[in-house]
Amino acid sequence: MDEKTTPPAVDETLPPVVMPSCPIDRKLRGQKALVTGASSGIGRGIAIGLGHAGADVAVNYLSGDEEAQAIVAEVKRCGDNKAFAYRADVSKEDEVRAMFAAVEAELGGIDIVVNNAGLQKDAAFDEMTLAQWNTVIGVNLTGQFLCSREAVRLFKRVGVKPGVSCSAGKILCISSVHDIIPWAGHVNYAASKGGVAMMMKSIAQEVAPWRIRVNAISPGAIRTPINMEAWSTPQAYAELMKLVPYKRIGEVDDIVRAAVWLASDESDYITGATLYVDGGMTLYPGFETGG
Ligand code: BGC
Repeated sequence: MDEKTTPPAVDETLPPVVMPSCPIDRKLRGQKALVTGASSGIGRGIAIGLGHAGADVAVNYLSGDEEAQAIVAEVKRCGDNKAFAYRADVSKEDEVRAMFAAVEAELGGIDIVVNNAGLQKDAAFDEMTLAQWNTVIGVNLTGQFLCSREAVRLFKRVGVKPGVSCSAGKILCISSVHDIIPWAGHVNYAASKGGVAMMMKSIAQEVAPWRIRVNAISPGAIRTPINMEAWSTPQAYAELMKLVPYKRIGEVDDIVRAAVWLASDESDYITGATLYVDGGMTLYPGFETGG
């Protein structure tokens, strides 16, 4: 390979990207957000990022009271935002309805809902139990349905609030590259994310006339506890990089920046879109050299 075709060496000593320092552009000032599954990983980052961007934030979680309280404190660090933690299982209809009522009462409204809660229960397909299937579909897909439905009900009821946002509300679905990349050993997870992709687009089409925007972010391999096996040893990391043309793992911050933008009026004409934040994982990396 000559100079033009040889990719630059990757400096693996680069420190991981840190959370946005305070204060970032407070483009969400005056808005109120609910983030599900916000006590760890990507949800934690998004809750903090929306808060640092000026929004009041409800931090939904199922386990980890202390983590949730720490996130509440971090959300409030940069300004006068309100924040509070609310425990609920997003796969349970009554809990979701109670959560929306509580958040609306506590924050005085909701403008942004981030459907982030998600989990994996991996198994070889012929060994996958119905419980593993149901748990993953229940949280990852039904949970997003239940929260999106409550959000749409609320956004339609309240309508556009001039001076707050040009839209009546924003729903952001956290999906995955596995909404289009099949994933052996993770059939329940891939099915749930494929479902999220079409659910998101169909809701977006239906509610656009009410000025409600519905979009998705599909993260690739992001350094969080959910995929620790894939990055925590040098061997695993090297294997992972074969799937990432950009040759670095994603950081939570990469998702946070996209989420803040999609929740803001800067993206007001965007609805029904999926933004792949994946370092090129969806670009058929096997074809870098083959084909
Ligand atoms: C999964 C991770 C995985 C990534 C890329 C995500 O949706 O949760 O475990 O590393 O997709 O395969």
